[in-house]
Amino acid sequence: MAEFPSDFIWGTATSAYQIEGGYREGGKGISIWDAFSRIPGKIMNGDTGEVACDHFHRFEEDVQLMKDMGVNAYRFSLAWTRIIPDGTGDVSEEGIAFYSKLIDLLLENNITPWVTLYHWDLPVALEFEKGGWLGDDISDAFAHYADVCFSHFGDRVTNWITLNEPWVVAMLGYGQGVFPPGIVSNEAPYIAGHNLLLGHAKAVDVYRNKYQDKQKGQIGIANNCDWREPLTDSPDDLAAAERALEFFLAWFADPIYKGDYPASMRERVGERLPEFTAGEQAMLKDSSDFFGLNHYTTMYAADATNKNSEDSVYGNGGISEDQDVQLSVDPSWSKTTMNWAVVPWGFQKLLEWIDTRYDHPPIIVTENGCAFDDKPENGEVHDAERLDFYKGYLAGCRTAISNGANVKGYFAWSFMDNFEWVFGYSRRFGMHYVDFETLERIPKSSAKWYARVIAKNSLDVQG
Ligand code: GAL
Repeated sequence: MAEFPSDFIWGTATSAYQIEGGYREGGKGISIWDAFSRIPGKIMNGDTGEVACDHFHRFEEDVQLMKDMGVNAYRFSLAWTRIIPDGTGDVSEEGIAFYSKLIDLLLENNITPWVTLYHWDLPVALEFEKGGWLGDDISDAFAHYADVCFSHFGDRVTNWITLNEPWVVAMLGYGQGVFPPGIVSNEAPYIAGHNLLLGHAKAVDVYRNKYQDKQKGQIGIANNCDWREPLTDSPDDLAAAERALEFFLAWFADPIYKGDYPASMRERVGERLPEFTAGEQAMLKDSSDFFGLNHYTTMYAADATNKNSEDSVYGNGGISEDQDVQLSVDPSWSKTTMNWAVVPWGFQKLLEWIDTRYDHPPIIVTENGCAFDDKPENGEVHDAERLDFYKGYLAGCRTAISNGANVKGYFAWSFMDNFEWVFGYSRRFGMHYVDFETLERIPKSSAKWYARVIAKNSLDVQG
């Protein structure tokens, strides 16, 4: 069956730092990504998000392109530094006005805004003053910022995502140190992760107590996870794959759906894993109205408990010793330019794993997509590999739905090529090509195909 449920949410996604530019305009403050990308050697080719796709000035054109694609939803993030430039102080009316215009325009075009409050661009002031996500009261600062956003936009925005990918913030920012604030540690990721979860819970608490009854919206979190397929059928490898998923997704989802971290993490991380108080647990439990999932790839997982080889392919960075899982890929799998394997059945399995473990939650795929080396030819971009990727992954999603997973919506990452973090502009994830010299946008073949899929609510379309 190629058809999707009749009320399926078809969207596309972006984030503020990756597309907006206008980095000192409208009173915007400096974020940790503004600062980090200015450090020589951190970002490929010395790229920064200072201009990015210039969406700050071109949002009207972008909304029109979304309209042309026929999406009924658009997921984007608010830059904390546009709204509260120094993180905790005065609210910038200009920042509020910018997002208000964008939200109104989306609604005029029947595109439902899905708003992420935090997509990694922490005000740099909070890095200095509070120690970023390691700070004891950073979660309160986040809840305050969330409150400001609900009060200004909640009359029109009814779909909120607190955090994008706390795993990435914790692991890449505080474990491997390749993202800001650049900390390398085997303890800091767990503290940062803990504070991110508390920030999420406190923001949801504010929304539920002050706004939800009146504004009638929903609020959740977007977690990311790859699929981990057991390398063999041995009980050790089966357990390793499960453990890998627990250290990845359940780290952030179990506290929300079950009230605490997974037992495998408690056992292996020991004292480095913080404890929740009873009050915090109560606040966290059931704090997501939907299960937001960002998904990109799959790897095999094998038990590595008794391995001490230095050349083990561990993956998952500096805290991988805590997991004892060896990751690998099948060399026959095709790869994107991120070097991520294209494995649509992994997506299906992950959706079904979530359905089982978390008792059939409504799932919103908040990101799924791929990077390829697209090149315009005679003003057109035929991104055949991306088309194949989406056909495969959406078919995997459709199968998971047939098998009982309650998938309610899907956001393609990304609406347009943008600043791909440490890879700068060298990785193109968009359904729209962006010429980073002229800032011209060109709908790729995938955008046109996606429009046909959305119009028919089915994968059974031409192309
Ligand atoms: C996600 C992230 C996005 C985007 C994508 C592709 O982890 O939320 O911002 O960069 O990956 O790498």
